[in-house]
Amino acid sequence: MKQRLLFLGPPGAGKGTQAEQLAKGRQLLHLSTGDLLRAEVKAGSALGQQAEAVMARGELVSDALVLAIVRSRLERQAEEGGSGWLLDGFPRNLAQAEALERLLAELGQQIEIVVLLELDDSVLLQRLLSRGRADDNEAVIRHRLEVYREQTAPLIRYYQEKGLLEGVDASGPVEAIAARITALLD
Ligand code: AP5
Repeated sequence: MKQRLLFLGPPGAGKGTQAEQLAKGRQLLHLSTGDLLRAEVKAGSALGQQAEAVMARGELVSDALVLAIVRSRLERQAEEGGSGWLLDGFPRNLAQAEALERLLAELGQQIEIVVLLELDDSVLLQRLLSRGRADDNEAVIRHRLEVYREQTAPLIRYYQEKGLLEGVDASGPVEAIAARITALLD
């Protein structure tokens, strides 16, 4: 059973929804950089203050900031003897992917599978507009999609070339998508 997973896909593809369920069911650390950043914003920390305006515009927060968050969580988990994790929303560009590789080499760990959630833009837009998070208005969603295409989508080829990428149809009910993902993991 695969224990070190990465979810890739555009905003609204259902990464968070699927990751939460799967991580709970398999006792994996669910590491969502978006959730962690929103918690910092809510807490009003220095980090949150730096991230807030960037997130509201739908742009990427600095690599250094995000990497520090991921490093501390993965190191802590390794120290506690845990090893299974699900990264959701990270890495988001090639620099982050390369930094993750270096970090995992330090920890003696490896990604076992990268699941790409695939969905049409029209459905993504509908899902996000009906959620209504602070960064879910139409102009910002379109910008997040552009940022995804320019900066994150190159990771598809990056992980394909490493033989790690598996695509999943992310349309339909949550349970049906979960079953498609689970079928790839055992
Ligand atoms: P992040 O929180 O990662 O947002 P995102 O990638 O834009 O993803 P979303 O949460 O919008 O979508 P999702 O694919 O997780 O779908 P979800 O399950 O929520 O990032 C936010 C911001 O933080 C970024 O813009 C950036 O500024 C910053 N950031 C984060 N990580 C970063 C990084 N690594 N580097 C730099 N900056 C970073 O579902 C969406 C909606 O659809 C929900 O309402 C859900 O209930 C619904 N839904 C889900 N599945 C279904 C279904 N099957 N049918 C119907 N509705 C569904």
